[in-house]
Amino acid sequence: MSLQEEIQKRKTFAIISHPDAGKTTLTEKFLLFGGAIQTAGAVKSNKIKKSATSDFMDIERQRGISVATSVMTFEFNNKIINLLDTPGHKDFAEDTYRTLTAVDSVILVIDCVKGVEAQTEKLMEVCRMRDTPVIIFINKMDREGRNPFDLLDELEAKLNIKVRPLSWPISIGQTFKGVYNLYEKSLNLFHPSQQKVTDEIVSINSLDDELLDEHISPFANQLREDVHLIEGVYDAFDHKAYLEGKLAPVFFGSAVNNFGVRELLSAFTSIAPAPIERPTDLREVLPEEKNFSGFVFKIHANLDPRHRDRIAFLRICSGKFERNKFYQHVRLQKQLRFSSPASFMASAKNIIDEAYPGDVIGLYDSGNFKIGDTLTEGENLHFKGIPSFSPEIFKELVNNDPMKTKQLDKGIHQLTDEGVAQLFTQQPGNRKIVGVVGELQFEVIQYRLQNEYGAACSWRPLQLHKACWVTCDDKKELQEFVRLRATQICLDKDGHFVYMAETNYMLNTMMQNHPKIKFHFTSEFKKDLVAI
Ligand code: G4P
Repeated sequence: MSLQEEIQKRKTFAIISHPDAGKTTLTEKFLLFGGAIQTAGAVKSNKIKKSATSDFMDIERQRGISVATSVMTFEFNNKIINLLDTPGHKDFAEDTYRTLTAVDSVILVIDCVKGVEAQTEKLMEVCRMRDTPVIIFINKMDREGRNPFDLLDELEAKLNIKVRPLSWPISIGQTFKGVYNLYEKSLNLFHPSQQKVTDEIVSINSLDDELLDEHISPFANQLREDVHLIEGVYDAFDHKAYLEGKLAPVFFGSAVNNFGVRELLSAFTSIAPAPIERPTDLREVLPEEKNFSGFVFKIHANLDPRHRDRIAFLRICSGKFERNKFYQHVRLQKQLRFSSPASFMASAKNIIDEAYPGDVIGLYDSGNFKIGDTLTEGENLHFKGIPSFSPEIFKELVNNDPMKTKQLDKGIHQLTDEGVAQLFTQQPGNRKIVGVVGELQFEVIQYRLQNEYGAACSWRPLQLHKACWVTCDDKKELQEFVRLRATQICLDKDGHFVYMAETNYMLNTMMQNHPKIKFHFTSEFKKDLVAI
């Protein structure tokens, strides 16, 4: 197969949702349809139970399992589908944001009872930052949910995107009858079943067809009215607008009942984008370029406590990746080769000889990689869009065992390499401040430092509002700012200055008083610095 054909065969995406909307259930159903798993329940344990935030066994189990399921590759409709897992718990949101940099599209799951929820809005903002194409799946139609027109209005208003239903529900909750496929003009009748696939499809010639009355009585007239209204209100589905991230097609179903899942997956394989060009600090990189390139978006450390091994997850952006070939690690300016790159076909790890744009491979790493690192065949470019977000909760790391200072130091550096948290160091005294997006990360770090590095620590709360990277075109000006504000300045792991704002008010005042200083809320700007 030619490179172009390999690229066109691939769809790389993530399922995202507010916790409990049905992401795990839908993921599992996709894998069932794709033949990657045989029984339901296999993915289920991949979740941290939302109630037990301190249950470390769960955290540990999540870490172990999520490696196998971080990427799930399966085939459907002659396409190779790479489904990237995103943690459901909100305290791991940053991990999710980063995973979204490695996909070409997403499926957003909404609970029809709850509508748009807090996490839905945040995730959607991240998608909109990069115009990622989004398909919306409105789930749990077997429950007494909201009116579908109201839901669509809410999606448009809160998610700031135009929507277009491609299927339409016939009643809801106890009287849910199924969905009407607006394109194929067919009825998919609902029979609740968690075990088997229930797709009784009835083709009809037009909405006047008497079959409609026969199958979905007494809702046939309601459906006719609804469809009439939809066709009046919504423009025809615009595929280009979807690919540009401006329009989200909407499907309805019930994942737990296997209902509407096959339609969704079929529509996904036909409309979702194959890998497309990706921005770097130098130029756009096209997937069909002959030379290989890719970037690391996720790292798992210490999978096996007996060996300090790590896996770096690399998204391939262009060309063909080959086992045992030397590639350029751009940040380190070093040639590396990989003897056992892993793929994640059918949830088992396999050594692969080659991989193509859209694929995600696991590279065993002895400490060479950081999140955002780029590999190429020699060109010095960096992929953009893998930011570290400015954390919002901060604590000082306190060493409880001075005999283990070295281990603590090593541990906190390695764990923050994974991207679970960010480390800021303040002088004098080498004070270590750890910033996270979700509180639970502190517990995870403390537990892992103890278990994986034998280092005991505790946390001292800090009243900080935000950490922002500061830069200035005028070096002297920056030095002066850093001198004046020394007590609020830290260094990040790469030696960049970070201003620790105590309050939003302080931050605003600082920005007003120092107009030449640039305050950055993600670390994206670093890539630009490298380019200069
Ligand atoms: P998440 O990954 O987005 O957090 O959600 P998850 O799939 O775990 O689903 C959350 C709950 O919603 C689960 O129930 C799941 O069974 C249920 N669910 C998913 N899809 C549907 C649906 O189409 N209809 C209905 N009625 N429920 C659905 P749970 O009680 O938390 O877990 P479980 O005991 O069922 O495993």
